[in-house]
Amino acid sequence: MSHWNDEHASSYDEQWGELNFHQQIPQLAGVQPGFNIVELGCGGGYLSVCLAQSAQHVRVTALDPTPKMIALAKERQDKAGLSNAQLQFFAAGAEALDVSDNTQDLVVAAFSVHHWQNPDKSMALVFSALKPGGKIWLCEDLNAPTEGSLEVHANLKALDGLKSLLQNSGFVQLSHTRHHSHEGDFLIVEALKP
Ligand SMILES: C[S@@+](CC[C@H](N)C(=O)[O-])C[C@H]1O[C@@H](n2cnc3c(N)ncnc32)[C@H](O)[C@@H]1O
Repeated sequence: MSHWNDEHASSYDEQWGELNFHQQIPQLAGVQPGFNIVELGCGGGYLSVCLAQSAQHVRVTALDPTPKMIALAKERQDKAGLSNAQLQFFAAGAEALDVSDNTQDLVVAAFSVHHWQNPDKSMALVFSALKPGGKIWLCEDLNAPTEGSLEVHANLKALDGLKSLLQNSGFVQLSHTRHHSHEGDFLIVEALKP
């Protein structure tokens, strides 16, 4: 769907890669010690590091299909001194999520769902990966500047589109909230696997 190249990845990461908001996500998403977490569309990995450092014995599996993003993410991992047992990156899109069924406590996707190549297939994989009672936590920037030549699913940058995607995939107890700061106007949507 989208066509991220090295140049776009680097300029995105420079401008948006390390937000104060990223630091707040582990708490907003309810990370607990020992959680298995998948992050989809992890970009340059700043949030992945925040998740991995947010509680004891957390294991994060983070995916992004853009090689430059994964390279940046691995640099951040090295700087943070996190082992592969704590945080592992894969160069893959959400549609290629490959973890055992019913193993994950939390799946996080920050500003990435609207870029997914195949949202229905990806959300079905997320549903399978989560344990019963596990949570999906998503956020999108409602006022993001235009994404230039990138093709995106515009409907997945809005509440209605995200709700339909989650409901059609079997998720329940959907809730949403808005987080507004100088960094942006962020829509947060979460839901549970029954
Ligand atoms: C707007 S950036 C957000 C990056 C990061 N989550 C953050 O908060 O800074 C969107 C990311 O989605 C990734 N992406 C593109 N296609 C994707 C796909 N099919 N599945 C998952 N992520 C994808 C891009 O490579 C990019 O890193």
